[in-house]
Amino acid sequence: MAGITDGKFCRKLSTKGFDLVTIGGYNSDRETILAGKKIIKRGRSEFDVPLGDFKEHITHQTDIIKKDTHWKGMVSVNLRAVTTSPIIEISEINEVDVVEINAHCRQPEITGLGCGQSLLFKPEKLERFTHEVVKKADSKVSVKIRANVQGTDIIEISKSVENAGADYLHVDAMKPGHPQADYDVISSIKQTTEIFLIGNNSIKDLKSAQKMIDAGSDGISLARALITGKLPFDLSLVKFNNSK
Ligand SMILES: Cc1cc2nc3c(=O)[nH]c(=O)nc-3n(C[C@H](O)[C@H](O)[C@H](O)COP(=O)(O)O)c2cc1C
Repeated sequence: MAGITDGKFCRKLSTKGFDLVTIGGYNSDRETILAGKKIIKRGRSEFDVPLGDFKEHITHQTDIIKKDTHWKGMVSVNLRAVTTSPIIEISEINEVDVVEINAHCRQPEITGLGCGQSLLFKPEKLERFTHEVVKKADSKVSVKIRANVQGTDIIEISKSVENAGADYLHVDAMKPGHPQADYDVISSIKQTTEIFLIGNNSIKDLKSAQKMIDAGSDGISLARALITGKLPFDLSLVKFNNSK
């Protein structure tokens, strides 16, 4: 979650049983940083990016997590960028295990630049962009997408991410107007792709976590339910499908 999930925040989760924590999302090039400044002006302070060297900042945040002796998992960095270069650069940091391409952000200042959620409307561009990152990155690659965006085809998008060779497809299975995730969308992605699928949205207890797995997710992710830094259920009770 932008402006919230930094190294200090993620460190609080080190003993909760997660395999991976994601910091960010971050605006990572001149264009997205300037767009972020406009977003801040309308009250969304989480889009602020620390001044100074961005790579150094991310190195520091990942060090905070990895220096915790309890933490044995991976660290991912969610990034908004117009070009692939800043994402590739972040993948070169030793302690970064995964770079996550943000094809999820719907702030108009970001989509107006052709990145974030606007990539969902251009699966071919998303595939080319992701493939370039996959080819050059020193880390694994994830792509975060949003479901049920009018005018987009989630299966075409998912296939483009898989064809590009990404390691993970991270799906915010939001269902507009509903307090729970769209589990059907997860099932249909699972039936048409083989990529490692991380299901996200409205997981807040054991029941919703298990439903996401039973719908076909290989992994799950939580955002709002963790905002206090506490996990509201015991992750070890979730029965994962251990095929991957
Ligand atoms: C305040 C806030 C900031 C967020 N920032 C980001 C972001 O920068 N990048 C991203 O991929 N998702 C971001 N998200 C979306 C969450 O990661 C997640 O996909 C969404 O909240 C649904 O999951 P949840 O029901 O577990 O919260 C943000 C969500 C919130 C509430």
